[in-house]
Amino acid sequence: MRFGTTILKRAEVLGRLTQDEGRLTRAFLTPQHRQAGDLILGWMRDAGMEAAYDALGNVVGRYAGGAPDAPYVLTGSHMDSVVDAGKYDGIFGILTAIACVDDLNKRGKRLPFAVEVIAFADEEGVRFGASMTGSKAIAGKFDPQMLDIRDAGGMSMRQALSGFGGDPEKIDSLRIDPRQIKVFVESHIEQGPVLLNAGLPVGVVTSIVGSTRVQVRVTGLAGHAGTVPMDARQDALTAASEMVLAVERHCAASAGELVGTVGKLAIPGGGATNVIPGCVEFTVDLRSSSDARRAQAMAALKSQCEAIAVRRRVTLAWDQIAQLDAALSDPAEQERLAASIAAHGIEVKRLPSGAGHDAMQFHGVAPLIMLFVRCGNGGISHNPLETMTAEDADVATSVLLHYIEHMQ
Ligand code: HGY
Ligand code: MN
Ligand code: MN
Repeated sequence: MRFGTTILKRAEVLGRLTQDEGRLTRAFLTPQHRQAGDLILGWMRDAGMEAAYDALGNVVGRYAGGAPDAPYVLTGSHMDSVVDAGKYDGIFGILTAIACVDDLNKRGKRLPFAVEVIAFADEEGVRFGASMTGSKAIAGKFDPQMLDIRDAGGMSMRQALSGFGGDPEKIDSLRIDPRQIKVFVESHIEQGPVLLNAGLPVGVVTSIVGSTRVQVRVTGLAGHAGTVPMDARQDALTAASEMVLAVERHCAASAGELVGTVGKLAIPGGGATNVIPGCVEFTVDLRSSSDARRAQAMAALKSQCEAIAVRRRVTLAWDQIAQLDAALSDPAEQERLAASIAAHGIEVKRLPSGAGHDAMQFHGVAPLIMLFVRCGNGGISHNPLETMTAEDADVATSVLLHYIEHMQ
């Protein structure tokens, strides 16, 4: 196997760089971000790339080719993780790209264009809530107001970035010149069962779902669990619970057009057994392949939650924290990637992505395309049970290399 064993070994090593004892969590601008970034930097340099951290903590490697200012291929994925993550989400797309460049370098081959590999520093948004900050900066979509967002400990992104050795003032200069980009191509585990069920190792991504993230705060009246009659309560938790089920009900009735998730819910300060909860905070993650359908659903959900709040005599704060429009893969690049898959004697499967990816930030900036690789364990992801095989990593890397090498 030319690539697969090394890729999985490296994923194993990175999978041990965690901020949580006993499970994999690696957030933006943490010591683990630095440890993983340093390893990736070393592997990029070993593969013949010039490599360095950029002002936002992305790790960028460049394999020169052709005229220095000729349009180049941009590839990569993210090095941060969700909480209690699997080892391959994001990381696979970085390691497979490094493996492609390493193979070119070993053969002493230079392409008519450079290949730039980026390990994006923050796609999941676990620490600050706002997602894809790394790829937004490269695509020119970074909102400087994100620098003022504070993490759970009260530290702002700006403070954390300066402490990491980044430079908030230089983020704007990271923006690429779209005329310089031939394509942005991202390889990623599918995070679903479609390729597994089809018995295929790889597939062409046709589109990436759009998403909206909202932070909701329900405020009632804390009270004594024993002395407040049931019909006199302003219970923030029972109100929030009804709202959470409203999200599920609304999306379950959408015939697959919507998926909605409440991934975080907490009583600030933790609550107490004998106190009626006076305040509850939760998040809503709503997705659809149609931006209009998602916007309409979000408005409907907000008004349903407002009605629940009135009936239960609590108040509602509804703050949008992130919004990503759906992104279409470039049709010509889909055909070229399909040809590389077919050149390996593999049936070409085209499929949409229900997960968001850094690639979507390049929508409207440069042609974008994604290569999916099969996930085992029923396609489970955002879970330590996430898995893939060295054989599939090998095939996917060979397809990616073929796609890049045959680019005009
Ligand atoms: O949430 C997502 O779809 C991605 O994993 N950030
Ligand atoms: Mn993810
Ligand atoms: Mn991912």
